[in-house]
Amino acid sequence: MSDKFPRAVAVGVTGASGAIYAVRTIAALRAAGFRVELVVSDLGRRLLREEIGPDASIDRLDAYLVSRYGAAVKNGELISHSNKDVGASLASGSYPCEAMVIVPCSMKTLAGIAHGLSRNLIERAADVVLKEKRHLIIVPRETPMSLPQLRNLVLCAEAGAHVLPAMPAFYQQPRTLDDLADFMAGKILSCLRIEHDLYPVWTG
Ligand SMILES: Cc1cc2nc3c(=O)[nH]c(=O)nc-3n(C[C@H](O)[C@H](O)[C@H](O)COP(=O)(O)O)c2cc1C
Repeated sequence: MSDKFPRAVAVGVTGASGAIYAVRTIAALRAAGFRVELVVSDLGRRLLREEIGPDASIDRLDAYLVSRYGAAVKNGELISHSNKDVGASLASGSYPCEAMVIVPCSMKTLAGIAHGLSRNLIERAADVVLKEKRHLIIVPRETPMSLPQLRNLVLCAEAGAHVLPAMPAFYQQPRTLDDLADFMAGKILSCLRIEHDLYPVWTG
């Protein structure tokens, strides 16, 4: 990410499995000094609670991130928006937020982005990022995928999004779930050209 980029990244969290990828990504962006503008869908909130626990609910998320990933998380601010508020700052191209990550991205939200529906703030903010030719990273999670879902991924890629499937690798010999989450968060930061040490560089 160039020095000219405002240090803000929007993060959308939807109701696909893989909430651990979301919390790890938010923590890593904040530790790198970025302001995170967070939008969580209703099902995203449910998955945060069910897959991580009540401590990861939105009102306790800040404290949870610090307790789990350390005080460096405080290097970057966390601002939370309602997904219903399609008039929030992120809904406008004039708001200086140069990148958006949707992690994990449900097939429903994927479809909404692929077809420009803007039914909520996550879809509208993604639409804005695409129209302004900024960075949109979509981290889809579903298996198997139907043909319409695969076509929606292609539509998003053709519109300029980076499709970064929730597919952690195993060549770095992960031992824990955290190792897998670190790998996915690291891939997201690498896509945004943000330096990190979330996984070892492959040296052959
Ligand atoms: C426990 C649970 C797990 C789910 N996992 C996925 C998933 O991995 N991928 C997916 O596309 N949808 C999944 N869904 C379905 C979505 O949550 C559902 O389609 C929802 O309407 C998505 O809305 P959102 O995109 O606004 O969050 C899951 C639902 C539940 C309750």
